[in-house]
Amino acid sequence: MIRYIADSRLFQMFGATTYYALAIGDDGRLAHVGWGVLGDGASSDTSVATGQKERFDDYDPFDMQRLRDEVLTFGDYTYHEVALKVTFPPAPDARAEGLPGVPIRDLRLRYASHEIVADAEPGLAPRMGGTRAEGSPRKVLRVRLEDPTHPFAATLCLRLTPEYDIVERWLELENTGTEPVVVEQCGFGNLHLPPGEYELMHLTGRWGSEFWIQRDKLPQGMLVLESRTSSTSPFHNPAFMLNRAGEACEDRGEVYFGCLAYSGNWRLAFEHNSDFSLKVIGGYNPFDFEMVLRPREKHVTPAFVHGCAADGWGGASRRLHAFGRKYVLPRGPTVAALRPILYNSWENTGYDVRVDEQIDLARKAAAIGVELFCIDDGWFGERRRRTSGIGDWWVRKDAFPNGLDPLISEVRRLGMTFGIWVEPEMVNPDSDMYRAHPDWVLHFPGRPRTTEKDELILDLGRPEVVEDVHGALDRLLREFQIDFMKWDMNRSASEPGSVSAKAVWRRHVEGVYGIIDRLRADHPSLSLEACSGGGGRIDWGILGRVDQVWPSDNTDPFDRIRIQEGFSYIYPARTMECWVTSPQESRNDNYDLRFDIAMRGALGIGAALDQLSDEQMARFGERIAFYKRIRRVVQLGHLHRLLLLDRHGVSAIEYVTGDGSEAVLSVAVVDPRAGYVSRVRLRGLVAGASYSVRNRGGSEVARLTGSGLMSEGLLLSTGGGFLQRGYSSTLHLMME
Ligand code: GLA
Repeated sequence: MIRYIADSRLFQMFGATTYYALAIGDDGRLAHVGWGVLGDGASSDTSVATGQKERFDDYDPFDMQRLRDEVLTFGDYTYHEVALKVTFPPAPDARAEGLPGVPIRDLRLRYASHEIVADAEPGLAPRMGGTRAEGSPRKVLRVRLEDPTHPFAATLCLRLTPEYDIVERWLELENTGTEPVVVEQCGFGNLHLPPGEYELMHLTGRWGSEFWIQRDKLPQGMLVLESRTSSTSPFHNPAFMLNRAGEACEDRGEVYFGCLAYSGNWRLAFEHNSDFSLKVIGGYNPFDFEMVLRPREKHVTPAFVHGCAADGWGGASRRLHAFGRKYVLPRGPTVAALRPILYNSWENTGYDVRVDEQIDLARKAAAIGVELFCIDDGWFGERRRRTSGIGDWWVRKDAFPNGLDPLISEVRRLGMTFGIWVEPEMVNPDSDMYRAHPDWVLHFPGRPRTTEKDELILDLGRPEVVEDVHGALDRLLREFQIDFMKWDMNRSASEPGSVSAKAVWRRHVEGVYGIIDRLRADHPSLSLEACSGGGGRIDWGILGRVDQVWPSDNTDPFDRIRIQEGFSYIYPARTMECWVTSPQESRNDNYDLRFDIAMRGALGIGAALDQLSDEQMARFGERIAFYKRIRRVVQLGHLHRLLLLDRHGVSAIEYVTGDGSEAVLSVAVVDPRAGYVSRVRLRGLVAGASYSVRNRGGSEVARLTGSGLMSEGLLLSTGGGFLQRGYSSTLHLMME
């Protein structure tokens, strides 16, 4: 519920268990009032966060860093971090007086009007027609703020998703004047947390090692998480959780969380002041940023998604997962739908893809229960090696003399759907595309162009390049029966010269999003995966347009446990594609472990099927059949991290249906010193009910009550010995 209390000029927003409040100050500033968990017995009917409106006129001017503006601007006292910085042209009277004129770098936003509307969308919301998410309308509070003397308005939009205690905030900027204004810094919004000492959870990484969980005590001063790569980046993910130091754990404690729905250069700045006040500013990265708003021009920013949970990090994660599944993920015809089991031969065949071999692999894949066959890199242009071919999206003649149709028709005859790998934003200098259009890449004329992975980045700041890329993909989808695209992006930006100047950072993202939206609108049965050299483009912006993501090129099961645990803090299991691959030299060759870990998300197979024995193939088939029995619970259930790798040396994850009637327990031991962990206590079951606990073969290994499973726990090993490194199991619990 969102309401406005006119007497006190107060706005209140109530989620199921939390509140958010802001008010119009006597001086017209829009002030943050409070945000947090509703106390025991409190609800939207009681008065919460009312009387404690802070009065800005009480502040000593030099104390202004404590300002709790709902939209922090560079203006008046400016030594605190801000969401918006705008430069107006010099005042006309100064020019008239023959003075050189001083550009006005001073923006003061004051209340003008407000409305509560049935629904509204942030910038870069997907435009995909019928394939859009369930997205029932949600109330949006819109508060228009204007500069009293200069022609600029900013409307703060707050969309409430009450059932998950989540608010999406964004800004609509408008140049209401007759001369251009320059926006030099543009957050999607800023948050104020109650003063205190905080612990920050965030996710860092690099290629092959994404989503490492970091927990740090937030220092006083500024901490910045960001991407400057032009994409989301594997180095930091645009998401965080904050809790008062030492006061939260997986299932208890107040946790604030936030994420940016944007796949370009982003920044999250945490300003923790000496009075312990804490601001979080999130949005476009000010690095090399500039946005010129022409007269009457508007800009709507993407969303800063944030929420609060009383039930720990796990509660925060479950809210984000459910929110994402219901409101963010695309809903194509397959949707309700569970993610299919995919086969991809990249780790097996590399660039060496040939029609006969792929047909052979497709037959083997179908025989073990695969549902979607995807051909990775190597099928197009002159792509015999990584140095050539990207940009030439026509079928490689030597590998597929009769085009893709023979492979596609065999894949369909086998009852599977078909997918291809593409990397549409890139070009190899050794390609027909580059030879025809050497000026189509990011570069500064006359300066060197740095390749990475032998690629240059196309300048999506040029509309004709966006059209060309869209045209190439659209042609493929019209020519062949393609159900799925793995959309890759394998390098970071360098020499960002573009006809769109500094706007290219934003144009690139708009280009990618726009192409995907058009493809999905015109080809409603298409589904997509986002990949960026592994997990370099995973955020709530891209997840509005792709059905799944590739978290990492590292498929070693031990490494993957850690990567997937980190992923699970923010993103739902349904989107997490995980392959069972063949062991590389000296790596783990335990297929049970490989399957148990890959079954924690959307199961895929990347193993060399042609090198497996009949017996191994049969066991692959059994495990895939087992996954099909549990995937509804894994992909759509509530996720509980019961034991964390870093703390216990054991990772135990439970997925449980909302009504507690069915659950899946996945356990893996990494550190042998963790042998003391022999029982796992489950959550979310029905206390009085009886559960049959079954292994992957379908045999019952225990029959216990919900209360027994939740209090005493499930005994993992009956052999009496310690659980060893590499021990793993996946169990299916069903209420009798
Ligand atoms: C990236 C992806 C891989 C694979 C290769 C192909 O590295 O992450 O999964 O598709 O590109 O070149």
